[in-house]
Amino acid sequence: MGHARIVGASGALGFLCPVSLRRMAHLGPVAWPPHPIKTQRLVLRESEARDRAGLIELFSSPEAGTYVGGAQSREELERTAPETPGQRAGFFVVEVDGAMIGMITFDRRDAEHPGHISPDAGEAELGYMFLPHAWGRGYATEACAAALQWFTGALPGEPVVLCTQTANGPSMRVAAKLGFTEAARFEEYGAEQWFGVWSAATGAT
Ligand SMILES: CC(C)(COP(=O)(O)OP(=O)(O)OC[C@H]1O[C@@H](n2cnc3c(N)ncnc32)[C@H](O)[C@@H]1OP(=O)(O)O)[C@@H](O)C(=O)NCCC(=O)NCCS
Repeated sequence: MGHARIVGASGALGFLCPVSLRRMAHLGPVAWPPHPIKTQRLVLRESEARDRAGLIELFSSPEAGTYVGGAQSREELERTAPETPGQRAGFFVVEVDGAMIGMITFDRRDAEHPGHISPDAGEAELGYMFLPHAWGRGYATEACAAALQWFTGALPGEPVVLCTQTANGPSMRVAAKLGFTEAARFEEYGAEQWFGVWSAATGAT
């Protein structure tokens, strides 16, 4: 993905990437919220009001924002973020030992962006963003693998796409470990973007 934005209930701020707290195009006919998904070390669940502080920390982190459009103003986020940010089908909060460490999203890819595998656009697109202190432990890959498994059960047979800057080494490695394969590369937001595709039949999870 190119850029990320957390926005208020009004959706007043710009939106440039799938990692967003904005209400997005509906993922489709999926049962939501799901039962919390447990992996070896993590729990994936729907967003709750208690996650607001952690999500604001995430979106205001300069490190986390490096390849997704930069950090957002904490003050503005405090002012504009909904009481429970990220309440939509396909938005998972990830926690370890009861503490929120990141988020995973499935949203529909807008036709206005380059990079599509469907002539009508609207592909299910995976996004992930974790707090820097939780990096380097395999949490993101473990959580995304579980989220993709959920997706396969929710929308069987549908592929998932992903877009990330090629300069974002950790994200490129997550995509590869999950079994995404390259479908295209293009320039957007002044950077080279890698566009990959995953399906349950060929993915690594
Ligand atoms: C992209 C992002 C999620 C990657 O996080 P990450 O922690 O590097 O990814 P993983 O969960 O796969 O962890 C992998 C690392 O943990 C290490 N690791 C340590 N213990 C591990 C374990 N038990 N199991 C697996 N890996 C482990 C691996 O060696 C690997 O390190 P390496 O990449 O240096 O080889 C993170 O950098 C991020 O949130 N960035 C900001 C948002 C962003 O850019 N999102 C991408 C846009 S789509």
